[in-house]
Amino acid sequence: MFTCPNCKEILCEEDKRYVCKNGHSFDKSKEGYVNLLLSQASSKKRHGDDKAMVSARKRFLSGDHYAHLKDALAKKIIAFSDKKDIKLLDAGCGECYYSEGIKDQLGKCGIFADVYGIDISKNAVAAAKKRANDFHLAVAGVNKLPFADDSLDVIISVFAPFCAEEFSRVLSHGGIAVRAIPLENHLYELKAKIYDKPYLNEVTAFDEPPFEIIDCYDIKKTVHLPTNEVINDLFLMTPYYYKTSESDQKKLFQIQSLDVTTEFRIITYKKH
Ligand SMILES: C[S@@+](CC[C@H](N)C(=O)[O-])C[C@H]1O[C@@H](n2cnc3c(N)ncnc32)[C@H](O)[C@@H]1O
Ligand SMILES: [Zn+2]
Repeated sequence: MFTCPNCKEILCEEDKRYVCKNGHSFDKSKEGYVNLLLSQASSKKRHGDDKAMVSARKRFLSGDHYAHLKDALAKKIIAFSDKKDIKLLDAGCGECYYSEGIKDQLGKCGIFADVYGIDISKNAVAAAKKRANDFHLAVAGVNKLPFADDSLDVIISVFAPFCAEEFSRVLSHGGIAVRAIPLENHLYELKAKIYDKPYLNEVTAFDEPPFEIIDCYDIKKTVHLPTNEVINDLFLMTPYYYKTSESDQKKLFQIQSLDVTTEFRIITYKKH
């Protein structure tokens, strides 16, 4: 259950809004998600991914080019979560591509997941609600999660900011966080098409006290991108896009297909 960002009491879901016992009320959007960022905090200019990035990611992920990552994340949850009925949060959920697939795969193994998703981008959460209408979705930040202490069983964090202190607060004892980060060679061939001197990615430090790391698993796979549209969607959904000059961006217009390395690390953390 979501909690009220004003007073931390439980929010009860009604048809068109969420309301706490102190009368703080949050209307649902027309899509059905709720914005739990307080107005003062939400007045900053750019909030998470913009519409173009969200649309590009939606098209790209729908092609299942990253299905191997989705499958690997589901396997880790099945291996390390010992409950049959779990509350799962997708933190920095984007359009919930991964959590939607994971819920299905857990279901096939007899595990029911009640799924929550939060993201700081309204565009992302609106797209997520269209993909997964049965998920509980809110606009919120990873640094101030709208959940009570010890109230969730599993958190997934896929290419999104990881806030160990807050994730550990909301997870129950024995709960797990499963995180995916890109490794050195991830999308190297895409960068090689754009930059004269392509660089390797810097790998994010992933030790996150107070969590214990219980598993660390690397995946590497070459993915075939069959059209110019797919290549451009992949580029647009990455942080490289905004760091690249217009003339370098145009280099991708000529390319009709590309084999590209995907390289991820999946880290599973446990709260004691
Ligand atoms: C690279 S995208 C990944 C989205 C999704 N997990 C996926 O892999 O498809 C990163 C996401 O984190 C969100 N984000 C960025 N900062 C955030 C924050 N402080 N709190 C919550 N979400 C955030 C962005 O809006 C974006 O949707
Ligand atoms: Zn309240």
